[in-house]
Amino acid sequence: AQSDTDFRPNFHFTPEENWMNDPNGMFYLNGTYHLFFQHYPEGNTWGPMHWGHATSKDMINWEEQPIALEPDEKGYIFSGSAVVDTKNTSGLGDGETSPVIAMFTYHDPKGEEAGREDYQTQAIAYSLDEGKTFTKYEGNPVIKNPGIRDFRDPKITRDEVHDQWIMVLSADDKTMFYTSQNLKNWELASEFGRGIGAHGGVWECPDFIQMNVEGTDEKKWVLIQSLNPGGFNGGSGTQYFVGDFDGKNFTLDESMKGVGEDHSYWLDFGKDNYAGVTWANIPEEDGGHLFMGWMSNWQYANEVPTETWRSAMTIARELKLTKTEDTYRVISSPVAELQKYKGEAFTKNSITVEAETKIAASQEINLSNSVISFEIENLKEQEYHFSFSSEGDDILKFGYNHNKKEFYIDRSQSGLTDFNENFGDKISTAPRLSEASNLKVEAILDNMSIELFFDNGKTVMTEIFFPKQAFKNFSANGDKIFEIRNIRIHEIKTNNNE
Ligand code: FRU
Repeated sequence: AQSDTDFRPNFHFTPEENWMNDPNGMFYLNGTYHLFFQHYPEGNTWGPMHWGHATSKDMINWEEQPIALEPDEKGYIFSGSAVVDTKNTSGLGDGETSPVIAMFTYHDPKGEEAGREDYQTQAIAYSLDEGKTFTKYEGNPVIKNPGIRDFRDPKITRDEVHDQWIMVLSADDKTMFYTSQNLKNWELASEFGRGIGAHGGVWECPDFIQMNVEGTDEKKWVLIQSLNPGGFNGGSGTQYFVGDFDGKNFTLDESMKGVGEDHSYWLDFGKDNYAGVTWANIPEEDGGHLFMGWMSNWQYANEVPTETWRSAMTIARELKLTKTEDTYRVISSPVAELQKYKGEAFTKNSITVEAETKIAASQEINLSNSVISFEIENLKEQEYHFSFSSEGDDILKFGYNHNKKEFYIDRSQSGLTDFNENFGDKISTAPRLSEASNLKVEAILDNMSIELFFDNGKTVMTEIFFPKQAFKNFSANGDKIFEIRNIRIHEIKTNNNE
């Protein structure tokens, strides 16, 4: 049977020890990507929250740093964001370096226990050494609680058009928009979301970014909004809304008007990509919108079968906004930096799939740490199935049913599943959002995770699994014969598996 060490990903971020959930406060400065994260350094389940910290030159190879923010008498340090205050609008700079301002939620456990409603408030901290250490601002909290129980996860964006800072905050069943000139005094500008989109649970961890529509000069604002439960395949999930912003109000685009509980605007349809947000301060020419999510789901996050560490982040992804006819879609692709870790390759121009057909085996190429891509031309009214299997009885399946225009991941027999009833009980599905006659598939595997990018990231599915033995075979089958083309499997090599 596999252990904690075998399950630990090689090229996805995991905490060295103990519990992790949401990514927090990501920013880029002077060649370094910073990632902070919800962390309980003393236990392997959720507990009093700290901000852990890690740095990287490429978002793939991470180095864990000392803890950045610790709980104090005002409460635990919940999720939030960070920005580089280049113009020292906050006045918290020392005149030498740009201060980094982090904004987070204080969650006061005493208030919660006492049954109060106002135990979540917003606070800031600043760093004068490029994010190494933070000092909590003496005027905290900077936003008091107006009497809303779930009032958290501030995400700051720079709005150059209106020369202001914008902050989005999740408040129960809506997003609240605040504006500021100095990151210390915040004014409530508007609210969005009641009766719009999915509301199967509390809204959490928003993000608000201005995006260029690919291939045009058009710009739109995108509100990314996680919720738990109520995700597309149950539990935690992340939806998005496309619209316009006038400096105060976010208005949903005409094409999305009437979007209710059931919709197809999800950043990821799999069960394990939650609370993701984008990096601040990324130069536009370097991609602009880089995203990372927590690769788990509150349905079972505390029970997944690892002991010494718990949870990984998704691969960093570049987000783009596309428009086809009148429909906007946010598409994702793994960051280009992953390319440089590609090692040995297995390639084949084409394979004809009849009944169960082997594509590759682990003697030929390391399947457990790999990027796999292939295409299917001229899709037909039929089913396309793929699977990874171990020597024992572990099998992880994914595929596409062109009759239903539906993708799926089936981890019900993928190994250890019975630690929680919501882990292996259902097959996750996702709609195909492309009309193209050819299907492109890219899969990233890293010991315990699969990230599937269909149609260049128009439909994405991310899920975790815990095989009792490492996968040996990658195979395909269908209800009719078909051809797979341009098969490319690259091993991903890092210091961890060299
Ligand atoms: C989302 C979340 C946030 C909160 C944090 C606490 O996963 O519930 O809303 O700030 O986790 O750890």
